[in-house]
Amino acid sequence: MIRTWAMVVHRYGGPDVLRWEEIAVEAPGPGQALVDNAAIGMNLSEIGFRSGTFHAHEFDAPKPPFVLGVESVGTVRAVGPGVTEVAVGERVGCPGLPNGAYAGCRVYPADRLVPVPADIADEVAAAVMVKGMTAQYLCRRTCPVGPGTTLLIHAAAGATGQFVCELADHLGATVIGTVSSDAKAEYARAHGCHHPIVYTRENFADRVLQITAGRGADVIYDSVGRDTFADSLRCLSRFGTLGLFGVSSGLPEPLQLMGLHLLTEQKFCRPSFYAQTAQRQDLLAIAAHTFDDLRRGVFRPHIDLRLPLRDAAAGHRAVEARRTTGAVVYLP
Ligand SMILES: NC(=O)c1ccc[n+]([C@@H]2O[C@H](COP(=O)([O-])OP(=O)(O)OC[C@H]3O[C@@H](n4cnc5c(N)ncnc54)[C@H](OP(=O)(O)O)[C@@H]3O)[C@@H](O)[C@H]2O)c1
Repeated sequence: MIRTWAMVVHRYGGPDVLRWEEIAVEAPGPGQALVDNAAIGMNLSEIGFRSGTFHAHEFDAPKPPFVLGVESVGTVRAVGPGVTEVAVGERVGCPGLPNGAYAGCRVYPADRLVPVPADIADEVAAAVMVKGMTAQYLCRRTCPVGPGTTLLIHAAAGATGQFVCELADHLGATVIGTVSSDAKAEYARAHGCHHPIVYTRENFADRVLQITAGRGADVIYDSVGRDTFADSLRCLSRFGTLGLFGVSSGLPEPLQLMGLHLLTEQKFCRPSFYAQTAQRQDLLAIAAHTFDDLRRGVFRPHIDLRLPLRDAAAGHRAVEARRTTGAVVYLP
């Protein structure tokens, strides 16, 4: 039995429920690896897991007590029986569920680990782990974008939003993004967003229709949900695709497909990191492509907040107050 320090959620609630305490970590079992964490990326979904709002609708939402966190990077300290995917001493990323990343070390399924190349720093790898890989599959797989595609992305100055802007711009798409302030509009513009819309000042759907001369956006990736979904639908093109890949503001109203206009034939999906990476070869390909895009300067991560893990509550407060641009990283 190993002991480490971790951020534990004993009851659902605000950032104050995060408790810094020493925990016991089991030795890795069959198919598992023990990873010493070097850097931990924050993902907005952790607010949903911490507050309990995901409990009603997200698969695998843990019940307290649990260690929070879904993105980390570190070194394999030990492997359990039958592990062939990684070896002791290898640098790896732990992209996604199960929760448990906010800790000095953690046990993780070995077949979900991705190798982290030697030239990518821990903090940078943590910043792009799930969020860069998500931009990767959204822009290249769920609905590939390129020249002739107009893409709308919400929270364009957020961590995932920034990477979507950068990659979609690189692939030749016209990129429209929503942000809450002029400062975030400037940030998004510097990261590949051609038309930032300050949604606190103007209705974003009206503005998208204006930018596209009434046609609407071909691809809309909406991670905000309740506050945006109806207007996202209003500015979707006739044959457009609307992907709901997050619910930062809560669940949207259910969609009645037969209520859609006969002059439209739109597509709807719930893009999922776990569907796209269910096969190990896809997980590895998406990770490798993400690291390549980092090296080529397509992804230009900005770590807005870098905090000791024990201060993670401050990071949560900053993200919930929408004060951050780019990524938040915790150091164990
Ligand atoms: N399905 C997947 O595979 C997948 C993978 C990764 C992430 N996601 C989702 O993608 C979204 C973005 O994640 P992220 O980690 O990159 O976070 P993020 O975009 O950095 O989140 C912060 C930004 O979200 C915007 N926001 C909108 N409504 C908000 C609210 N009610 N509370 C707080 N912020 C709000 C704010 O931007 P403004 O100030 O400009 O409004 C805020 O600055 C999340 O919904 C996450 O769950 C999904």
